[in-house]
Amino acid sequence: MSSLLARLWPATLAGRTALVLILGLMAVQGLGLTIHAFDRLELQRAAEARDLSFRAFALWRALVTQPPERRAAALAEADLPPNLLASFDREPWVRPDMPPVPPHLGRLFRLDPPPPAPPPGPRRLRPAESLSAAAGPAEVALSLRFAEGGWLNLRLRLPAPRPWHSDRFLAAFAAMSVMAALLILWAVRRLTRPVRDLAAAAERLGRDVNAPALPETGPREVAQAAAAFNGMASNIRRFVADRTQMLAAIGHDLRTPITRLRLRAELMEDEEQQRRMLADLAEMEAMIAATLAFARDDAAAEPAAPVDLAALARTVLDEAADAQPELAEKIAYSGPEHLTVTLRPLAMKRALGNLVGNALKYGGAARLSLEPRGAGAVIAIEDDGPGIPEAALEEVFQPFRRIEGSRNRETGGTGLGLTIARSILRAHGGEVSLHNREGGGLRVVVSLPG
Ligand SMILES: Nc1ncnc2c1ncn2[C@@H]1O[C@H](COP(=O)(O)OP(=O)(O)O)[C@@H](O)[C@H]1O
Ligand SMILES: [Mg+2]
Repeated sequence: MSSLLARLWPATLAGRTALVLILGLMAVQGLGLTIHAFDRLELQRAAEARDLSFRAFALWRALVTQPPERRAAALAEADLPPNLLASFDREPWVRPDMPPVPPHLGRLFRLDPPPPAPPPGPRRLRPAESLSAAAGPAEVALSLRFAEGGWLNLRLRLPAPRPWHSDRFLAAFAAMSVMAALLILWAVRRLTRPVRDLAAAAERLGRDVNAPALPETGPREVAQAAAAFNGMASNIRRFVADRTQMLAAIGHDLRTPITRLRLRAELMEDEEQQRRMLADLAEMEAMIAATLAFARDDAAAEPAAPVDLAALARTVLDEAADAQPELAEKIAYSGPEHLTVTLRPLAMKRALGNLVGNALKYGGAARLSLEPRGAGAVIAIEDDGPGIPEAALEEVFQPFRRIEGSRNRETGGTGLGLTIARSILRAHGGEVSLHNREGGGLRVVVSLPG
């Protein structure tokens, strides 16, 4: 029961507001129309009772003007409503032990008890005797004696009150409800649109710090929220820009002392020490160059566009195969021919290039698989290398962090590859994580939202 209610309860703000308003309005309308119907009911009953007693006395008059022997036949021919029973008898239906007509029914039927008033009309047409009694909660028995003998017995029954039994009631209720519901749905959707816009803008900002600002228009609260959001976005942009600039400045300024150190190293006597010193300096220069390149790329905001990610991934693999033809047969792609995803193509190529490069460098193979996921995609890259110790799976994303075994000339990277890849993917609203495979080797999983 509660799970059914939970299923019927709408998920959206607009849906919930509309539902509450529509239900409330229907309740108010139902109540209003019911009050109106009960009001009308009194009038309706009075009119029905008057009509009934009018028909009863009309019948009496029709019979009393007939010769006595024709009265039974005339009564049989009379066309009577279903709530008026009449018969021509020798005895009255009304007995002395029957309860008197209650005053409200007497008033409704225009009988003024006791004694019952004679029906209106000329004296000669009046009954010789008239008796009345209550025959039920809304029923009256009336017995009128003809001067020539015999009784006209009548039973007058008020129809049961049916306050809702009006076509107009239902039609009015339905028409008002439908009109109100349409109006409410329209208004609520309009009112909650800014909330959806704000959510969409936050989502865009998560993927692209340079996403366009929200228009600061509309109702005051909405305009204020949009202005606050735009302020926050520009603060984030400035923060990112400041950091990037600082990184570039530090990298640049470190070059001069390194050059001086190199000059001093050239003057060293001990050749072994000199060789080591120069190697360390070369490594430092490489790190700084990589840092500067990273900072420069980050600052150059490439626009996002719909791109065929499948083609892009295959290009990365082809270029890797061209660079290392001896590993070409260890490089494989599996996935759809084409898959369009909105992204920054150069940055994404760089991120995938770093991951594929690592797989080849440390794992001697690169098997990339691509799978659509919603409007985005999931990419996995597997290799046959030693993998990474569990404790270091996150650590290697740190700048310049390298596993000891790979610190040799042959695989000489700078330790920024994974840092850059993660930075690019997170700027797309995505993520990259490393997992050791069951049978050895590393599995890199990249997820990209649409
Ligand atoms: N596929 C892989 N298999 C094993 N180790 C890896 C793999 N990819 C990365 N690593 C480890 O993570 C470290 C950091 O990688 P990265 O940031 O790309 O720097 P770099 O490749 O320049 O050393 C690497 O030095 C290596 O020790
Ligand atoms: Mg690398």
